[in-house]
Amino acid sequence: MKRSNCFAVFFAVVGLFAGKVGATVTLLSPAVSLSPDVSMQAASQSDEASQPRLVRVQTEDVTLALLCEPDGRLSFAYFGPTFSGDEALIARRYIGRPDAFEDMRPSAYLAYGGRNYLEPALKVVHADGSQTVELVVEGVETESLDSNRERTVVRMRDKLYPMSVELIYTAYRAENVITQQVCVHNEARGKRPIELENVYSAYMPVMAPSYYLTHFYGTWAHEMQLVEERLTPGVKTIESRKGVRTTQSENPSFLLSTGAPARADEGEVIAGALAWSGNYKLSFELDESGRLNVLGGVNPFGSRYRLETGDSFTTPEMIWSYSASGYGLAARQLHDWTRQYALHDGETVNSVVLNSWEGAYFNFDEATICRMIDDAASMGVETFVLDDGWFGNNYPRNDDRAGLGDWQVNRQKLPGGIDSLARYAVSKGLRFGIWIEPEMVNPASDLAQAHPDWVVKSPGREVPTMRNQWLLDLTNPEVQDFVVETFRNTVGLSSSISYIKWDANRHVESMGSEYLPEDRQSHFWIDYTRGLYSVYERIRKEFPDIEIQLCSSGGGRLDYGALQYHDEFWTSDDTDAYERIKMQFATNLIYPAEATAAHVSIVPNHQTGDRAPLKLRFDVAMMGRLGLELQPRHLTDEEFAFARRAVETYKDIRPVIQLGDLYPLRSPYEPGDWCARMFVSKDKSRAVFFAFSLDYHDRMASTDFKLQGLDPERRYKVTELNSAGSDTFWGNGQTFTGDYLMRVGVNPWLQRRGASTVLLLEVQP
Ligand code: GLA
Repeated sequence: MKRSNCFAVFFAVVGLFAGKVGATVTLLSPAVSLSPDVSMQAASQSDEASQPRLVRVQTEDVTLALLCEPDGRLSFAYFGPTFSGDEALIARRYIGRPDAFEDMRPSAYLAYGGRNYLEPALKVVHADGSQTVELVVEGVETESLDSNRERTVVRMRDKLYPMSVELIYTAYRAENVITQQVCVHNEARGKRPIELENVYSAYMPVMAPSYYLTHFYGTWAHEMQLVEERLTPGVKTIESRKGVRTTQSENPSFLLSTGAPARADEGEVIAGALAWSGNYKLSFELDESGRLNVLGGVNPFGSRYRLETGDSFTTPEMIWSYSASGYGLAARQLHDWTRQYALHDGETVNSVVLNSWEGAYFNFDEATICRMIDDAASMGVETFVLDDGWFGNNYPRNDDRAGLGDWQVNRQKLPGGIDSLARYAVSKGLRFGIWIEPEMVNPASDLAQAHPDWVVKSPGREVPTMRNQWLLDLTNPEVQDFVVETFRNTVGLSSSISYIKWDANRHVESMGSEYLPEDRQSHFWIDYTRGLYSVYERIRKEFPDIEIQLCSSGGGRLDYGALQYHDEFWTSDDTDAYERIKMQFATNLIYPAEATAAHVSIVPNHQTGDRAPLKLRFDVAMMGRLGLELQPRHLTDEEFAFARRAVETYKDIRPVIQLGDLYPLRSPYEPGDWCARMFVSKDKSRAVFFAFSLDYHDRMASTDFKLQGLDPERRYKVTELNSAGSDTFWGNGQTFTGDYLMRVGVNPWLQRRGASTVLLLEVQP
């Protein structure tokens, strides 16, 4: 590959997010070349040689500034709110550094070598065994991709070795989001391979009196649990070594607050997320000078990657959202960006789904499914999804011990095939969807017998099963073709299929690939994920109109790398409303509610055994993409009628929930045992407020929730929704100014554990 291949890969990534690239490249020369904007700042030709030059990556309200130093180094100058007079950054000195850093600005991309002793963003082993890198800037290119996006590429090269590095920044003006990725190129003239050890997508130095890190941990059925901690000197890492279901222990995203714990509507917050569905690492190293060194990228763990001469390696993107007004704004910016650039069909509202899993599990026949479709239709549901259990003949899929890999309709359960069911759903006014888990195989299957070489395994060792299944080796192009064919054949079962639930219920253990050569085994972790993306890419090209749910034992693959190919994600197999209040609150600090599948299930809950009231279950699920995960016949007539009304109500308010702005008013993770959130339409004409009591509040006075995001000048009529008997808010039906609602607030009567309220606010003419 030539150097320009870095750009080829880059264009592919940008093209994917944007759909189109309107490129006007400004190529600048000579050796240290700058954008027109940058060159204008140079005081004079003579100053130029001795002065650093400022490079701005600029959104509407946020600036990321870099400095090309006179000696060729690239330093980091600033990340924060845009301000006037930023040329002063050029002269700014760093005083009081420990010896090694004296008078040195932090590097914009820390390589191992020179005076750096921190965890490096870049570490390579050159062909002669040397492990150091010293990068100097060769040029800076800016390109306007369209009216909202500008790309800046800083081209650098090692002082000694034939290796070049591009730092690629994309600024999304309106959303105040900046993405960063890196491309390393082993130049052909070197004639020898290099080994990549660390190639992080981004390095970000932060200087503040104190640092508070919020991150999201969890396990199966307990994903996205928020924890906030003050960082102390040393290194804190969040990472995955699971290959698949990488986000089921820690999500590759975080909020970093400086000076004080993160607040919803004030204080500096940097949100970061990595777009990668394989092993990742986010590292926060608080050094002896008090600086926090943040790294985000592919996990170097066991992933030494050989780069042949002429080849390039492009990292996934690290996504940054900066807010000077708390985590609420950081989240809203990310949501806007996601809807436009990182979610398939992100700007249209999603339908209400009934999924068969918790209602039927593996135990169904045609009559069961048709009855569920009938009931779903009369409840107002818009999409029916047939989950696991519909396939396998020699090894019928009647439980999770057999059949995975044999994607033919089970003739005994469904003699009429899928087409008749799908057409039946469509005849009742519903769309039809179906479940697949194409990366996996049960040992008890025709596929496992035909292709033992396709299974991920360490040669000569026992292959451990998890949920009775093995993982297929997506580094192998034949396996990639099989997965694409499985998708194609499944969609081909009926022209009435318009939705696929894509599952992945195990991670990598005892890693090894029969496809990769002996000296490339360490490429497995990266090549598996690349194989997956190449499959997604092909599928999205061939099936742009199929809705795809991202599921991996629930939220095991929730990251921006996978999300861009999907329409929504299955947040968790835990459908308990009490649990979901917390989980959805945390999830939506990064990922938008529109894509957050939230299904009402039966009580006692199948995971926790809890008995949340039906109103609570609906109120919670209505804060995401509402769906149901139950056998409608298990509801009483009264419950069924409530559900039908709630589904109707949701259809009315869903544009506000799915496409509006989210204000996280009261965190369920803070003391007080409340949760309150609201969604406001972009034009501020409608809003929906949700509040929950997480504990018994005895005779305590009711609490005031001050609303946000409304127009203070206008009057809003308040209507209580999903009422189950008596109203919770005395002001139901009354009209208030936006100013009153934001300064005084609303105080619904929520005394008991599980009490909840939903208020619709509509601007009055
Ligand atoms: C996973 C998913 C569930 C369901 C089952 C089917 O656990 O998260 O929603 O699809 O698989 O086996």
